[in-house]
Amino acid sequence: MNSWWRIYGFAACFIGLAVAQTTTSESSSTITLTLATPSIDTNCSTVNKSLCEACLPGMFSDNATEGCFCCSDGSCVNSSDCQLCPNGHYQPLAGQQSCLPCLPGFYANSTKSATCRACEPGYYSNETGAAACRECGQGYFASHQSSSSCEPCPSGSFCNTTKCISCSVCSAGEEAVGIASIECVPCHPGMFKGPSDQMCMICSPGNYQVEWGEVKCNICPEDHYCPSPDLYPVDCPWDAFCPAGSIEPRYCMETFFRKAGNTCELAPLTIVLLGFSSLIGVLAIIALFLKFKQRCSRMFTVHSPLLSKDGSPCRSYGTYPDAEPVYTGW
Ligand SMILES: *[C@@H]1O[C@H](CO)[C@@H](O)[C@H](O)[C@H]1NC(C)=O
Ligand SMILES: *[C@@H]1O[C@H](CO)[C@@H](O)[C@H](O)[C@H]1NC(C)=O
Ligand SMILES: *[C@@H]1O[C@H](CO)[C@@H](O)[C@H](O)[C@H]1NC(C)=O
Ligand SMILES: *[C@@H]1O[C@H](CO)[C@@H](O)[C@H](O)[C@H]1NC(C)=O
Ligand SMILES: *[C@@H]1O[C@H](CO)[C@@H](O)[C@H](O)[C@H]1NC(C)=O
Ligand SMILES: *[C@@H]1O[C@H](CO)[C@@H](O)[C@H](O)[C@H]1NC(C)=O
Ligand SMILES: *[C@@H]1O[C@H](CO)[C@@H](O)[C@H](O)[C@H]1NC(C)=O
Repeated sequence: MNSWWRIYGFAACFIGLAVAQTTTSESSSTITLTLATPSIDTNCSTVNKSLCEACLPGMFSDNATEGCFCCSDGSCVNSSDCQLCPNGHYQPLAGQQSCLPCLPGFYANSTKSATCRACEPGYYSNETGAAACRECGQGYFASHQSSSSCEPCPSGSFCNTTKCISCSVCSAGEEAVGIASIECVPCHPGMFKGPSDQMCMICSPGNYQVEWGEVKCNICPEDHYCPSPDLYPVDCPWDAFCPAGSIEPRYCMETFFRKAGNTCELAPLTIVLLGFSSLIGVLAIIALFLKFKQRCSRMFTVHSPLLSKDGSPCRSYGTYPDAEPVYTGW
């Protein structure tokens, strides 16, 4: 009699359980986070095994003991069994119906995980439910734990391996122009990069550098000139000046001057020309003066009454028209 009831009670319990499972399995395909904080005791120690009731969510029925058992952390209920949370998923609470996927930046590489692990520096995970983190590729780095992406190396730095935690700054004389560089390239001839510079720079005018990957430029030496910063200095022409740092030779004014030591002096031709032109000038002045004087004296003799009233133009030369006309001509 007693055993009958037990069997009957067990059968009824099993039917009830089956009904409960069909109702809960409808929602089991979705992430049932709302059930993670149910009003029931998730610690599961207070289940009344002798009651004929469907097992509560998060528990499963055990044929042998006729009771309900609670799924512990790291697992969740599936039909009549507790299922370990798969890779990439976790469950920190007991008595839950689903496992949670690891967030980006975290991973779970084993089953029955109560927590997800953070990706190490140099690794990342850009998806939910990751079973492993990915390595940062060359030119990228992840300096922190739990990165959901890797950062590209900023301009001026590089990373030539995978799993970079940081990027190395290019040494002096080398540069990395773009982001995500995997190597530094030496500065071109005609350019330089000092230890504190960000990138290669062109030599200032009057300086040159013919080598690759240099940290400074050389000043163009004296008696040479440097038309381009990436070329060797050119010898100064014999008739030009080239102080240190010259871009181009400086000449004396052609024809009229010539180089003499550190200065320009008059060329012989110029001296002759100057002498000749000054001679012509003097002669012209004398001739003008004579001609003027000649005319004044003639006017005075013909129209003397009128001119004496107006004031004569000849006065401006300091001679009075009514003064004695003196013939001084040759
Ligand atoms: C479970 O709950 C009971 C009663 O509330 C408590 O005494 C016990 O410490 C809890 N066990 C755990 C592992 O939390
Ligand atoms: C289980 O339920 C039965 C019937 O309601 C009750 O008599 C018993 O005390 C309960 N056991 C516990 C541990 O709560
Ligand atoms: C419980 O019993 C039922 C019916 O006999 C059976 O189908 C089921 O597989 C059993 N479950 C376990 C976990 O043994
Ligand atoms: C329950 O587990 C079985 C096998 O372990 C699996 O095929 C099934 O998809 C699981 N069901 C749910 C709802 O997780
Ligand atoms: C999981 O990852 C940890 C840390 O990287 C490692 O020590 C462990 O061996 C891995 N386990 C498996 C099963 O891959
Ligand atoms: C994650 O990164 C990989 C590799 O870069 C890429 O192929 C994939 O599309 C990314 N996934 C998401 C969700 O961004
Ligand atoms: C990577 O860079 C380091 C430091 O600059 C260098 O010593 C090493 O040879 C490089 N490795 C490769 C494969 O280029």
